[in-house]
Amino acid sequence: MKYESSCERDTMAIAESLAKASAPGQVYALYGGLGAGKTVFAKGFAKGLGVAETVTSPTFTIIREYQGALPFYHIDAYRLGENAADEFLALGYEEYCYGDGVCLIEWAPYVDELLPFGHISVTIEPDADKRENHRSITIETPERGEKSRKLG
Ligand SMILES: Nc1ncnc2c1ncn2[C@@H]1O[C@H](COP(=O)(O)OP(=O)(O)OP(=O)(O)O)[C@@H](O)[C@H]1O
Ligand SMILES: [Mg+2]
Repeated sequence: MKYESSCERDTMAIAESLAKASAPGQVYALYGGLGAGKTVFAKGFAKGLGVAETVTSPTFTIIREYQGALPFYHIDAYRLGENAADEFLALGYEEYCYGDGVCLIEWAPYVDELLPFGHISVTIEPDADKRENHRSITIETPERGEKSRKLG
């Protein structure tokens, strides 16, 4: 599914509606470069989950936990360092990705090998005309065929 966002508010609204359809144990992998709008997306997502607290970039804290309708785990894998996957495992990966909450990971490629089957990918990029404040947001859910193949 591809959406066009023309401002920060659009991105938040798209994230908010996605969050409302989320379920416990769901993992959202965010892709997109510096300043793409991943944290903006996370803010909208938290709003959709009913998180009252202000969501800030987890850059220095790496993982932030919030409580909404479901626990919300916001992770910035960029800061996990060279052995991002090992660090993520040590910090409680199991609880974040297979627990009762919803997990959203900025810079998902850094923990690629840990992303559970069935995760949802969200790619935020400049729009086709590279207009300022415009973004294309592509949301990919796992294909049924792929899932059954991987699960054997
Ligand atoms: N359509 C849009 N959607 C989201 N953000 C937008 C949009 N247009 C402009 N912006 C601006 O782009 C910036 C996105 O910043 P944000 O911190 O969300 O990026 P990020 O992808 O999390 O970056 P980082 O990789 O550093 O974590 C904000 O300043 C925001 O106001
Ligand atoms: Mg960010």
